[in-house]
Amino acid sequence: MPVITLTIDEALVSARVGQTVLEACRDEGISIPTLCHLDGISARGGCRLCLVEVAGSNRLLPACTTLAAEGMQVSTRSDRIDRYRRMILELSFAERNHQCAVCVSNQNCELQALAAELGMEQVRYDYLDPDLSMDLSHERFGIDHNRCVLCLRCVRVCDEVEGAHTWDVKARGIESQVITDLNQPWGESLSCTSCGKCVDACPTGALFTRGATVAEMHKDAGFLRRILDGREKRQWRR
Ligand code: SF4
Ligand code: SF4
Ligand code: FES
Repeated sequence: MPVITLTIDEALVSARVGQTVLEACRDEGISIPTLCHLDGISARGGCRLCLVEVAGSNRLLPACTTLAAEGMQVSTRSDRIDRYRRMILELSFAERNHQCAVCVSNQNCELQALAAELGMEQVRYDYLDPDLSMDLSHERFGIDHNRCVLCLRCVRVCDEVEGAHTWDVKARGIESQVITDLNQPWGESLSCTSCGKCVDACPTGALFTRGATVAEMHKDAGFLRRILDGREKRQWRR
């Protein structure tokens, strides 16, 4: 596979042609915060937490959707990047209702972990306090839209890995919500196989297993890599 050379944080590194900046960084052990990204499903570039500086561009670029290129000069940390990442996180917290102390995913939430990692100490924006619904119609799982950050991992994993395409999105902008089938209750969905992949892929407490109480919801986003590796190696074929 053809290889390119680029500079990341002033170090010369190699990457394979077709790799994103995020993949090149991770291969080098350079950590970049992500939220909408999940290894094994398509990139969305929605949350913007993975923003990096690329010499020659006056915009910050999302590492998860920007292809690494020969001679590229990338900075993954700067005061400007840190400021933007914290601002994005604060806006995520302000948009819906994320009260960690009463959340099933407390201590096991990627949003919460990112806030700690990036030193987010307060939310400087007005909380919107939307009055969003929960759907507990599915016999095994539930969704609390108040905790959804619209990363759309559920939509992509259900479509691209499970092949069910139960999840989708309705409305636009601040009115956006994930929906099941044609906005029917999840429990009435004819397409859902109850596989639970969307629940494990969800980075917050928005999707959960019914019966889980505060801090009991442990998710395993690594399941996806195991499934995809198994399929690639045909481990389940006779
Ligand atoms: S449980 Fe499986 S099939 Fe049902 S919505 Fe989630 S990912 Fe899709
Ligand atoms: S329900 Fe979870 S996985 Fe789906 S968009 Fe919301 S936060 Fe993301
Ligand atoms: S992880 Fe790159 S935009 Fe969300």
